[in-house]
Amino acid sequence: MSEQHKTHPHLGFGLGLRTAHYQTILNERPHVDWFEILSENYMVAGGKPLHFLERIRAQYPLVMHGVSLSIGSTDPLNKDYLRDLKTLAQRIEPRWISDHLCWTGVQRKNMHDLLPLPYTEEALRHVVERIGQVQNYLGRRILIENVSSYLAYTGSEMTEWEFMRAVAETADCLLLVDINNIYVSAQNHQFDPIAYINALPVERVQQFHLAGHSKNGEMIIDTHDAPVIDPVWALYEHAVSRFGRISTMIERDDNIPELPELIEELNRVRAIARLAHRELAA
Ligand SMILES: [Fe+2]
Repeated sequence: MSEQHKTHPHLGFGLGLRTAHYQTILNERPHVDWFEILSENYMVAGGKPLHFLERIRAQYPLVMHGVSLSIGSTDPLNKDYLRDLKTLAQRIEPRWISDHLCWTGVQRKNMHDLLPLPYTEEALRHVVERIGQVQNYLGRRILIENVSSYLAYTGSEMTEWEFMRAVAETADCLLLVDINNIYVSAQNHQFDPIAYINALPVERVQQFHLAGHSKNGEMIIDTHDAPVIDPVWALYEHAVSRFGRISTMIERDDNIPELPELIEELNRVRAIARLAHRELAA
């Protein structure tokens, strides 16, 4: 494959594409640089979602984000899923395709939860091998995202960030760094989120996610149903100062507000990124 990952294609500042906003996007052409779609919503032969998607695609760059690859599972990779994913990619030509570093089930049961892996050498070999298969099949590098987690394995042999780094470098894939997920996991497992960010390989990071979440007693759940909170903004600022100009988007999956409210939040992302770049350049 090419040296593409070293150039960090920068799309700017985007949003997750949500059904409730289709019409406003088409009518008003809002100032959003790109949209991220949930791949599974469009892996069908036709229908309204695809119709809207193609119209939006004509006006904005898109990236594809999936939740069903289950790259860490011990089940064989789902060939039907991969075929449909590739068909969609051929249809809408996304700038890139991402999924999560997790497993979502075994024995073909999908639990619809993005579950963390044990961070062991064995799991590393397993995931690297499977990312290789996916990248070969799709004919491109994929981005792998860190998940938020509420449990950890006593058998882990390395930290999550060491595992992420090893996956990216050994599988020759790219990273989607979810800043909120780092914050959530850091709270739940009591680690330093800055140490996590500082350990990731700069040349592999191609996208950031920002999101809000809910607090459930002692546990923080990654719900994507609220605005980004201040400590996550601060972490984002640190991430920009380390990684530079990285395509960033806000994920809102529940409690979805009107588009202008999300655009206002996106403007805060732009402002923080601009400031951090200026400080870098100074
Ligand atoms: Fe995310």
